[in-house]
Amino acid sequence: MQVGITHDAPLSVRAEALVVPFFSDGSLDEITKEIDDALGGAIAGALAAGEIKGKPAEHLLFYAKGQPFRRVLAVSLGERSKFEPVALARYAGTAVRYLGRRNLDDLAIALPPQARGQEAACASFIAEGATTGAFETGVYQGKPERRIATTRVTILTGSFDAQAIERGAARGSVLGEAVNLARRLAITPANEMTPSDLAEEATTVAAQNGLAIDVLDEARARQEGMGSFLSVAQGSAQPPKFIVLRYDGDPSSTERLALVGKGITFDTGGISIKPAEHMEDMKYDMSGGAGVIAAMYAIGRLKPKLNVVGIVPATENMPGGKATKPGDVVKAMNGTTIEVINTDAEGRLILADALVYANKLGATKIVDAATLTGAAVIALGHAASAVVTNDEAFGDQFLAAAKPTGERYWQMPYYEDYISAMKSDIADLKNTGGRPAGTLTAAAFLREFVGETPWVHLDIAGTAYLEGESPWQAKGPTGTPVRAFLALVESLAAQPPNAPAGRPNGAQAAEVAV
Ligand code: BES
Ligand code: MN
Ligand code: ZN
Repeated sequence: MQVGITHDAPLSVRAEALVVPFFSDGSLDEITKEIDDALGGAIAGALAAGEIKGKPAEHLLFYAKGQPFRRVLAVSLGERSKFEPVALARYAGTAVRYLGRRNLDDLAIALPPQARGQEAACASFIAEGATTGAFETGVYQGKPERRIATTRVTILTGSFDAQAIERGAARGSVLGEAVNLARRLAITPANEMTPSDLAEEATTVAAQNGLAIDVLDEARARQEGMGSFLSVAQGSAQPPKFIVLRYDGDPSSTERLALVGKGITFDTGGISIKPAEHMEDMKYDMSGGAGVIAAMYAIGRLKPKLNVVGIVPATENMPGGKATKPGDVVKAMNGTTIEVINTDAEGRLILADALVYANKLGATKIVDAATLTGAAVIALGHAASAVVTNDEAFGDQFLAAAKPTGERYWQMPYYEDYISAMKSDIADLKNTGGRPAGTLTAAAFLREFVGETPWVHLDIAGTAYLEGESPWQAKGPTGTPVRAFLALVESLAAQPPNAPAGRPNGAQAAEVAV
């Protein structure tokens, strides 16, 4: 998706369609009013007739015969008083999916008056939404039914700050591409997205975006003592890959953020095998890892002043003849012994070694993302990801940075009860703690491997992929947590050196940093 700007007046914009906003109160703002006048009051008429009410993303197409824009799509931004810039991602996404499916290649898009003073953030959301709206899921179909044809979106600058719009659009395009990259890695079936394939994708991202990469094979993982990670891999015919991407954006600083993502390219459950129903969705069990690779892509492109390392332990979880059996005891990189009660609780086993390795690489802050527990879906449904932290200030900074992105995160507690549930009779820990608080016993297990480093854990089991589509988003992988990862990176990069974690200048929920 190409996202550009135009200084043309609304009535003289050349495009296959012009997209204009409205709110549920039915009163039309300047640009929409001007276009509506040219349409003879068609938009106001449809609103007055109750044909469109203004629920978010509700839309109606008008033909504009004789105008340089040949059609007008009016798209609702919902309630005026509840406007947030993220609504513009849904606005642009809705337009691209609706008009793109009608074979329209070239769209112009107007901003609402609320963009004034926050042009960069608003343009970023437009570019992000337009890019992610065009994501195609039917890539293996010989004759896909209705492709999304839109390749170009032009934002009308009007009397807004054009420079800020350009800057925001550039940032939003990169974010949208990163989100789509994460989605492509996730939706690709496990036979074509093995640990080796994922490592190759990461290698390409690194080569093209100025990142360093190190992929540890099985032998090197063994040398490092990653017995917990390797215990998951040993049942698979596919060799494991432990992927490390590095970006040195602030060589003068010893601060380093580690982004760690679960990279199970397929989770059968192992010997504790899963039921057949929906098992195909377990190709998505590398969504956290895909999010890390995609965030590193965005970081490489946008070059924030921050050191970041991305770590993705990648393996299948298979019930092969050499597979780990329930009751086996394995040893993680930090010497902790783990009794494997249930081989389907494999995410925590690979993350244990990844978290220890993050510290070995000098991480001063760690965020991990994982499709870790079905219990997270029971607790929060598909509405939000679960958050657990060992450092309230860093947790608050993450939540504040993530808030305006549209990805939802909900903090859950850490109590010692949860780690007590993970004590084994014969080893230091066991890998399951029974049914109660499954998300939190899993998080407590991970916490044993992060040491004193401020850490935020994201359980994205309910948010990484969705069964339903929306007007602005295809069904399937969502790209969570790429938006929050980038927002956190920008928040940390904006933080003055040596400032305590927490809510630094510019990290407030009000605006996405651009
Ligand atoms: N990958 C699954 C978690 C999952 C479930 C993600 C549903 C997305 C949708 C994970 O590896 C798993 O199997 N967790 C087990 C843990 C249990 C055995 C303690 C679970 O949640 O059932
Ligand atoms: Mn599992
Ligand atoms: Zn899993």
